[in-house]
Amino acid sequence: MKEIKLNKVNTFLQSGPVILLSTNYKGKNNFMPMSWHTMIDFDPPLIGVVVGRESFTHKALLKTKEAAINIPSVKMIKQSLLAGKISGSKTDKFIKTGLEAIKASGVKAPLIEGCQACMECVLHDYSMAKKYDFFILRVVKAYLNESVKITDTFRHITGDMFMLGGKIKKVR
Ligand SMILES: Cc1cc2nc3c(=O)[nH]c(=O)nc-3n(C[C@H](O)[C@H](O)[C@H](O)COP(=O)(O)O)c2cc1C
Repeated sequence: MKEIKLNKVNTFLQSGPVILLSTNYKGKNNFMPMSWHTMIDFDPPLIGVVVGRESFTHKALLKTKEAAINIPSVKMIKQSLLAGKISGSKTDKFIKTGLEAIKASGVKAPLIEGCQACMECVLHDYSMAKKYDFFILRVVKAYLNESVKITDTFRHITGDMFMLGGKIKKVR
């Protein structure tokens, strides 16, 4: 084993798929790609997300108390990453990327066309938002796009390195 720099530790733990966290603030749809998220509970599903305070999404979450989690397919990787380089405070990312917003049923935040799964969420707990930019979302409705396989999603490793797809195997 060789010792590594502490700021490389995240590289080995970013194992969940990149998600597109969408919001609707003051009538404007927006989304950001993110990989710092974690399951917290099964049912109702609670999901923790770290959303930087400089982002427009952080503000939208605090103001609207709702969002949607969308899991993009590998086909959407270029558009998803482009959305991480610009802010919804100045841009309409749906127009800029060409991704399509779909109306959700229980929240104003949009679902995103072509994703493997979409989850309508309400803000469950933001007591750690000020200190850690950490929000807990509660999923209130979830959808699966059966034409996209779980292996068609992608994970962020570090910098511009991504893991595309993967193998699924039953292990006993
Ligand atoms: C692959 C990837 C993963 C990212 N993960 C996060 C994350 O976990 N948390 C975060 O705050 N920003 C993350 N970002 C950066 C945001 O997507 C970026 O700051 C975005 O422009 C914010 O958009 P907004 O201002 O419209 O909210 C990530 C970007 C990329 C490309």
